[in-house]
Order: sequence, then structure tokens, then C-alpha cells
Amino acid sequence: MDNNLVERDLKTIWHPYTQMKLNKELIPIIKGEREFLIRENGDRIIDAISSWWVNIHGHANPIIAKAIADQAKELEQVIFAGFTHEPAVRLAEALLDILPSSHSKIFYSDNGSTAVEVAIKLALQYFKNDNKPKNKLLAIEGAYHGDTFGAMSVSARGAFNEAFHHHLFDVDYLPFPEEGKEELCYEALRKSLREGSIAGFIYEPLVQGAAGMRMYKPEVLEKMLEICQEFEVITIADEVMTGFGRTGKNFASEYVSRFEPDIICMSKGITGGFMPLGTTSCKEFIYERFYSDDKSKTFYHGHSFTANSLSCAASIASISILKDSKTQQYLKDIAQFHETFKPDLQNFDFVQNVKSTGTILSFEFVPDASATSYFNKNRNEIYEFFMQRNILIRPLGNVIYLIPPYCISGESLKTIKSAILEFLNGRKAKLD
Ligand SMILES: Cc1ncc(COP(=O)(O)O)c(C=O)c1O
Repeated sequence: MDNNLVERDLKTIWHPYTQMKLNKELIPIIKGEREFLIRENGDRIIDAISSWWVNIHGHANPIIAKAIADQAKELEQVIFAGFTHEPAVRLAEALLDILPSSHSKIFYSDNGSTAVEVAIKLALQYFKNDNKPKNKLLAIEGAYHGDTFGAMSVSARGAFNEAFHHHLFDVDYLPFPEEGKEELCYEALRKSLREGSIAGFIYEPLVQGAAGMRMYKPEVLEKMLEICQEFEVITIADEVMTGFGRTGKNFASEYVSRFEPDIICMSKGITGGFMPLGTTSCKEFIYERFYSDDKSKTFYHGHSFTANSLSCAASIASISILKDSKTQQYLKDIAQFHETFKPDLQNFDFVQNVKSTGTILSFEFVPDASATSYFNKNRNEIYEFFMQRNILIRPLGNVIYLIPPYCISGESLKTIKSAILEFLNGRKAKLD
């Protein structure tokens, strides 16, 4: 291995979400295997966050690797306007097979942000194509939908997008439906929809990821969707993080059986973390609003790599692994592990909001008031503490969360649990 890799990296690369002046410690990874990231010195780091929530089947899964290699020998990429290919069609069929049954069309893009861009553009143009004056979007406070301008606009205003606030379009926000305060959210939803100009309502179903894995119950989602039924508004479930088994079902939207969102955004776990891919699915009535002899009603959106055949092949393989009964058992085992871990966490006075949904576990570590900012010093200390024990955990401010690959072993889960308890006991001793 090249000893100067970090030096060469720092000379040439600008990393995401990183203050390059303050973060010069990069960790070269030479190999991945199941839940492990393997360093040059052979250390095996447990990836407890599925590398930014994408590697649902762990690293270097041989079935997905083979699917990509086989496809690469046949066809790597073809323009997707006027052409098609087997992996794109097979993937659309496979997705529609697991998506809510009212969904009938798949639009391909490259990542989570573009899947969201497509969704919000579809909602806005849906009404434009009908000459209706509905041109505003509605989101939930604290939302994170991505880093492109449309996606930033429907996300919460905060430190990450502060430099661009003046360039983001206006959005109505509902208060987050906190337990016991859900009525405030429903009221705001009714008020906003009654006003008449809302074209689309975008939300992260059951779990707001980047806001700190903030969770709300399926009944709350059901109520919000029930209110939406009274109005003509396109409902958009951003399942970029929650999709593909993360919450215990294929999609978090499935926890509500009475209502299905009109549009669903997908990415992250879609290819098992192997290849970039975004998809946006919709119900037939949306597709029909664009289906016309009138060219001005066309959805003029597309990316160079739309429906890249290697991404599609990876995704078909990933979905088949997801459907496997062994994987379905893993999902249950992880959820069960979280359930039994929660009481241990609740024992600590300075631990709050201990919650889990499917394979996601989160809790707030609040030793003092300063801990609640994303930029608080505890965050870095927590990160370091776990990295020293070869566990990759990336707190969101003071929120520690686990979102592991589904194939993680019971032994690794126990290792993570012991390290978390060691950390909390150490803090308790300091505070006492
Ligand atoms: C709910 C949600 N939507 C959209 C995105 C953006 O996805 P990407 O980073 O692939 O652009 C994210 C990323 O974390 C997300 O959590």
C-alpha cells in the first residue's frame, strides 16, 4: 500500500461535509467484507452506519459484484432517450413488484437528491400541465432531502444550506409531529392545504434521518395522509433512507395500509451500496397528466447516466438478496437486538429519546445543554471513542445511532453494544 496515500489525497481531493483545514486524518480502506471495512494494517472496522446508510447487504457482496461484472461484459451504458435495455426493464419490474401496488411507473436518475428533484418537479408540472395555480411545496420542519437546490429548498433551513438561503424557493413547513404534539402538525397541515396553492407534500416516512433519526409512529403518518386525501395534493414519500428494508418492511410507507403516497423517492440501499442510482416511482394518474400529443406537457428531465445498466444490474441483485428469507430474518434479528438494548440505554439519566424503527436505533446523549448543537464538541469525542475501538459510528450532533448492514453478525452487534455501554458508563463516572 502506498504510504503517501493520505498526503496525495489531501493534495488533490476535497471531501464531502468536511472542513478540510480541521480534518486531515483520513483512514485508507483497502477492502470491504460483510460489515467490515479493512485497513492497511489489517484492522477490521465495524461499519455500524452502512457507510452513510447505503450498504444494506454489507461490503463487497459477491452476488452483487458478480451481477455487475457480468453486465459490464455485455453493455455498460446506453443513452436512455429513444433506447432501452434488459437491466432497466427488469429493475423497473422488480421495483414495481415490491412498491405499493398503486405505483406503475419508474423514472431513473443518479442519487437521492436527484430522485427528490424529479419528484418535486413532477408534482409542480402535474398542476402546470392542467393550468392549475398550484405551485408551492410543503415539507416538515427538520427535513433533509438532499443537497441540490430543489432538494435543499424542501429541506430545513440550517447551517448546511445557510450560504444559499436567498436562492432557495419558498416552502411551507409543518411542525415535526412530536409525540404528544401531533395535533399541531395536523392543524398546520390542514391550514396549509386549505389555502389552496400546495402542489406537493414531501416527507420522510417514520424517520427523519439527517435531523437526528427523529421518529414518529405509523398512526401519525396515516393521519397526515388521511388529511391530504381531502385536498388535491401530490404526496411524496422520500424513502431514500428508509427504503429497502431499513424500517423492517421494504418501504416505510407500507406501515400505513389505508393510503399509499403518490410518489416515492429511492436511492442509497437500492444497489446495496455498489453503484449510484436514484429512482422515483409514481402512480398512473401522474404519468397520464404528462402523456399527451402536446409536447409542452413533456417531462423534460434526464441525466447522462439515466438507467446506467451496471447500476440496474446491481440493484436487481440487491433486491433479490433483500427478498431472501435469510435477509428477512436478519431484519427481524436486528430489530429484536435494538428492542432488548433500549432498556439498558434508558438507565442513564443523560440519555434521552431512545427509539428504534426496524433496523435503526437512536438515542440522544445530553450531558449538558451545549450538547444539542450539531457542532458540539461531544460529537467529535464520541466519533473518536468508537473509532479507537474499530467501530464506525457518526453521531448527528448529540444523537448516536446505529443503522447497520443487514448481514451484521450477532458478535459485532454485541461488540457495538459493549462499546456504547462502556462510553456511557465512562461519562456517568465523570458526571457523578
Ligand atoms: C431522506 C433523504 N433524502 C435524500 C437524500 C439525498 O441523497 P443523496 O445523498 O444520495 O443525494 C438523503 C441523504 O442522506 C436522505 O437521507
